[in-house]
Amino acid sequence: MTDATSPYEQLKADLGYLGLGRAAECFAVLADQAKAEGWGHVGYLARVVAEQASATTNRRLASRMRFAHFPFRRTIDEFDFDFQPSIDRKVVEDLATLRFIAEGRSLAFLGQPGCGKTHLAVALATRAIEAGYRGYFTTADDMVVALSRARTEGNWASKLRLYTSPSVLVIDDVGLLPMARDAAGTFFHVINARYEKATPTLITTNRGLPAWGELFGDDVVASAILDRILHKAVVLNIRGPSWRMREHQALAEAARRPQDTATAEQRTAAQQEGGRDK
Ligand SMILES: Nc1ncnc2c1ncn2[C@@H]1O[C@H](COP(=O)(O)OP(=O)(O)OP(=O)(O)O)[C@@H](O)[C@H]1O
Ligand SMILES: [Mg+2]
Repeated sequence: MTDATSPYEQLKADLGYLGLGRAAECFAVLADQAKAEGWGHVGYLARVVAEQASATTNRRLASRMRFAHFPFRRTIDEFDFDFQPSIDRKVVEDLATLRFIAEGRSLAFLGQPGCGKTHLAVALATRAIEAGYRGYFTTADDMVVALSRARTEGNWASKLRLYTSPSVLVIDDVGLLPMARDAAGTFFHVINARYEKATPTLITTNRGLPAWGELFGDDVVASAILDRILHKAVVLNIRGPSWRMREHQALAEAARRPQDTATAEQRTAAQQEGGRDK
């Protein structure tokens, strides 16, 4: 409460005190509009509250997006499906309905570097955040390093919650670097906790699933991890080119066919030879 005198000042101060900043900003302008256009009391109040509700929604969304720590912002609409025909657009569109979250299905994105795994995982997690879920993004290596540091620093339980409590967790680049045995155990811990709560984990990897035994340094741990991730999972196995390389397609193709380049060079040399003969 305040010692403000006029109702205008008091209302402004009280709305500020209650943390209803947008309502404090707009109630006077809307009151003038209400008078000019003959809105009733309830109509006016509804407009003020709607303005506040929409500002609060946007602020919470922005805060969930900051919390998520995405490496970049990407949307499904930005994904060029024509460039990557091995991806069934309908499957991705179905995932974008977020039914997989209610059904507790994890997602696995497999494929070579640059084929769009992280893009799709980030875009789907963003869709979830926009729908009100909490999401978090980490690489596999960052997660196990953070958790093993937390173990030695004595804050394991709270750090673990960072990875187990969000409705959607993206674990990027699984298997980029092989994991030591205790790191694999830590990884299993997160996957198992999420599996038991039926909260989806989105993983990306450029390793084939059969190589996971090697990656986790232990076939038993690897199959326990895979078993939980793949149970009810949607697996997108992307077999296609790198988007990063598309502008260098010609160069990349030339690099893949060194004999053609040689032939071209030989042809040029032969033409020059021929020219000299004339
Ligand atoms: N089909 C596509 N349409 C539009 N942009 C794409 C497409 N595929 C990839 N990209 C873009 O190319 C870049 C690389 O894609 P992304 O990071 O998703 O690759 P990745 O499969 O995760 O590769 P890596 O295994 O190297 O991490 C990103 O900027 C992404 O937005
Ligand atoms: Mg990636």
